[in-house]
Formats: sequence, C-alpha cells, structure tokens
Amino acid sequence: MQNYKDFLDYVLIDEISLQKRIAELGAEINQDYTGQDLMLICILRGGITFMVDLMRHVTVPHVMDCMAISSYGVGARSSTGNVRVTYDLQNNIEGRNVLLVEDIVDSGHTISHVLQMLNTRNPKSLKVCALLDKEERREVIVPVHYRGFSIPNAYVFGYGLDIDEYYRNLPFIGVVDLEKYKPES
Ligand code: PRP
Repeated sequence: MQNYKDFLDYVLIDEISLQKRIAELGAEINQDYTGQDLMLICILRGGITFMVDLMRHVTVPHVMDCMAISSYGVGARSSTGNVRVTYDLQNNIEGRNVLLVEDIVDSGHTISHVLQMLNTRNPKSLKVCALLDKEERREVIVPVHYRGFSIPNAYVFGYGLDIDEYYRNLPFIGVVDLEKYKPES
C-alpha cells in the first residue's frame, strides 16, 4: 500500500474539528436521553473509531453492541441495495432506546436496511447518529438524527473509513486524489 501522503488530495476534516464535533454530539445525546436507558450500536467496521470516541462523551448510562453489514458488489464505493447482516447483535433490543452509530451515510441503503430490520424487533426508539453525511449521493430517504458533518461527494478516507481496507486509523478525514492513488492489483 502506498503512503497515504502520496494520494492525499487534502484534509477535509482535521483531528481537532472531528473531536470538537464529537464532543458536541455526545452532549446532545446526553441531553436527549437524560434519565433514559440507552443502547449504542456500532455498525462495523467503519463506525468503530467514531463509536469509541463518541462513547467517551456519552455520560448517560448505556450499553453497547455491534453489528456488521455487507453489501454485494465487490469494489463498489457505496452499497448497492443488496445488503445483508454478517454479524448480528448480541443483545435483545425490545423496549430499549437504540442509537445506531455510523461513520458515513452515503446512498443510505445500509442504514435503511438496518432500520427496517431492527424496527421489527420492537425497540422503544431507534435513531441514527452518523459522523458524515454525503447527502448528494442519497438513493433512499433515511433519517439522520445526529449528524457530525455534511460532506461533498468526494472519496474520503481515514477515521474509520478505509481505502482498500487501509488507513482506517488516521485521526482525520482526507480526500483521495484518484489520479495519484494506485490500487494494488
Ligand atoms: C460503509 C459505511 C456505511 C456504508 C454507507 O461501509 O461504513 O456502513 O458504507 O454506505 P451506504 O449509505 O451507501 O449504504 P462499507 O460497506 O464500506 O463497510 P465497512 O464499514 O466495513 O468499511
């Protein structure tokens, strides 16, 4: 894998801005769920970095769980609508306040599928917290109750988002210069 500096076009959201916004989201969540039970659900794998940082700002008592989703269509940069669960929740969500934690909502197919599926399990409430919202790309209408940043239609990576599985660890969101990025065959 190339050094990301060779294909980084520009930093879209730097580490300080990310962390400031995540603290604000945590404060909003604390206010909205005061006195209520809360379950945070991380959508693997992209949501993991955001989840870990967000959780540290959520002071209302909560439990956490994870689920993994896969969309058919290898190489696609957004889901195709053919979405399936590859790892399901370990907790029963019936009667609970559930907040889904995602790194990005793009076409909306992933979160739409998860919402439909989890709604059949009768949670008390079911909301979405997404760090990034690429509204321009939306193919299905989905609610985003807590939104970190609205972003343009660019190929972004870092902070949980991968480029061919690499660089999820970066502390910022960068934009790929596709003319400089050389995928390994
Ligand atoms: C990304 C992201 C969201 C989804 C958003 O996951 O984490 O789950 O795509 O796209 P959509 O709105 O078009 O459905 P990805 O399938 O890349 O898997 P990953 O989280 O394991 O990287």
